[in-house]
Amino acid sequence: MLFLLLLISCLPQGGDNTPISCYNDKGEATDWFYLYKLPSHHGGESSHGGLTYLLMDEGSSGWSSGKWGVNDTSGALGMTLGQLYSQGKDYTEVAYILYNDQKPKGGAGDKYGGKRGHTKGVVLLDHNQGFWLVHSTPNFPPVRDAGHFRYPHSGTKNGQNFLCVTFPLEQFLSIGEQLQINQPTVYDCDVPQSFAPSVPALAALCNNSHVKTASNRSVTLTSKGGTDFINFAKGPAFNDDLYQPWVAPTLQSDLLVQFWHNTPGTLPSDCKRGWKVLDISQVSPNGTFIFKSTTDHSKWAVSVKAAEAGGGWVCVGDINRNKAEEKRGGGTVCQRHGAVWKAYRNAALECQACEHGTIKC
Ligand SMILES: *[C@@H]1O[C@H](CO)[C@@H](O)[C@H](O)[C@H]1NC(C)=O
Ligand SMILES: *[C@@H]1O[C@H](CO)[C@@H](O)[C@H](O)[C@H]1NC(C)=O
Ligand SMILES: *[C@@H]1O[C@H](CO)[C@@H](O)[C@H](O)[C@H]1NC(C)=O
Ligand SMILES: *[C@@H]1O[C@H](CO)[C@@H](O)[C@H](O)[C@H]1NC(C)=O
Repeated sequence: MLFLLLLISCLPQGGDNTPISCYNDKGEATDWFYLYKLPSHHGGESSHGGLTYLLMDEGSSGWSSGKWGVNDTSGALGMTLGQLYSQGKDYTEVAYILYNDQKPKGGAGDKYGGKRGHTKGVVLLDHNQGFWLVHSTPNFPPVRDAGHFRYPHSGTKNGQNFLCVTFPLEQFLSIGEQLQINQPTVYDCDVPQSFAPSVPALAALCNNSHVKTASNRSVTLTSKGGTDFINFAKGPAFNDDLYQPWVAPTLQSDLLVQFWHNTPGTLPSDCKRGWKVLDISQVSPNGTFIFKSTTDHSKWAVSVKAAEAGGGWVCVGDINRNKAEEKRGGGTVCQRHGAVWKAYRNAALECQACEHGTIKC
C-alpha cells in the first residue's frame, strides 16, 4: 500500500488534470510572479552569461535569487512555458497565443513589424484557467513546434522583466479584447473551435481577423487567487505616452519609469503637466547589483509613494517612453502590493531630474 502511494506521488506531473498555471522556482503552481533577469554586466561584475535573475512570487516578502539560469527548464520561466511545449495530443485541450514585435525564428505573421504593437507576451489556457505572461524579451519564446523551452542568446545581455499571472477562464475574455487594442504581432497560436465561445477575441487574434477597437482601455483583471491587477492597453490612435497622461492620473500617483533608453526620441522626465513622471537612469533591484537603464530592456513603473493602505503600485509592461512608440500599441499590468512595491521602489536608484542632470529617485 505504502509502495503504491509512493509510486502514485512520484508519477510525473503534467497530465490531464494539471491546470495551466504560473510556476515558481520550487516547481509549485503560483498565482503570480515577477522575474527580473539581470544584465550580463552589473556593478563591474559579469555573471553567469547573463542568465542570472531575481524572483518574487505571491508568498515572498521581496526579491530572492533565482535558483537556476533563466534558460533552465526547472526554473519559474522554464516550468511555466514548459506547459506549452509539453502539451501533446494526450493532454488537456489548450489555447495559446504567442506575440512579439521581435518574433523568433520560425514565427509566422508580419516581419519585424514597425506598425503593429510594441508588445510581447504569452497567453496559455485550458478550459478552466491559464496564465498571461507579459515580458520584454526579443525573439522569445520559441514557437510551439520547436518542441521545448529555450531562452534566446539575444535576451541575455540586457536586463529583462517578466510578470506572470494565473487567471480563471472568464478573464481571458477581457485579456483578448485588451490584446486586440494593442494589435500585437501574433507569430504562433492555436485557439481550437471549442474555445471560441468563451474567448472570442483570442480566437479572432489567432485568426488574424481585424476588429475595430477603442484607442485605449483599462480593465481590472482578477487572478485565480483573487488578486486584482489593472491592465492599461493602448493602440496607435492613442498617439501619446502611456504613463504621463493616463497611468499616473488613474493610479493618482507620480511615477518612476524604467525603460529602454537606447533608441532615438526618448521622452525626458515630465514634470510640467499634472502628475510627475521621472525616467529612471540607474537600477539596483536588490541592493547588490547596480546597472544603468541603458543595459536594461525592462519596461516597468513604480509609484513614488506608497499610497495609504495596501502599499504602492508596480506596473510591468512592454512599451517605452519614446516618441515613435506613442503611435504604437502596447500596455502595462499594475498591481498594488506592499512587498512588490518596496522591491521595485528600492530598485529605482537614480532618476533623470525634471530640469537636467540626475537625482536620487
Ligand atoms: C542579491 O542577489 C544576489 C544574486 O542573486 C545574491 O547573491 C545577493 O545575496 C542578493 N543580495 C541581497 C541583499 O538580497
Ligand atoms: C543555459 O545556458 C548555459 C550557458 O549558455 C548552458 O551552459 C546551459 O546548458 C543552458 N541550459 C539549458 C537548460 O539550456
Ligand atoms: C476567421 O476568419 C474567417 C475569414 O476571414 C472569418 O470568416 C471568420 O469569421 C473568422 N473567425 C473568427 C473567430 O474571427
Ligand atoms: C483613455 O485614456 C484617457 C487618458 O488619455 C483616459 O482619460 C480614458 O479614460 C481612457 N479610456 C478608457 C476607456 O480607459
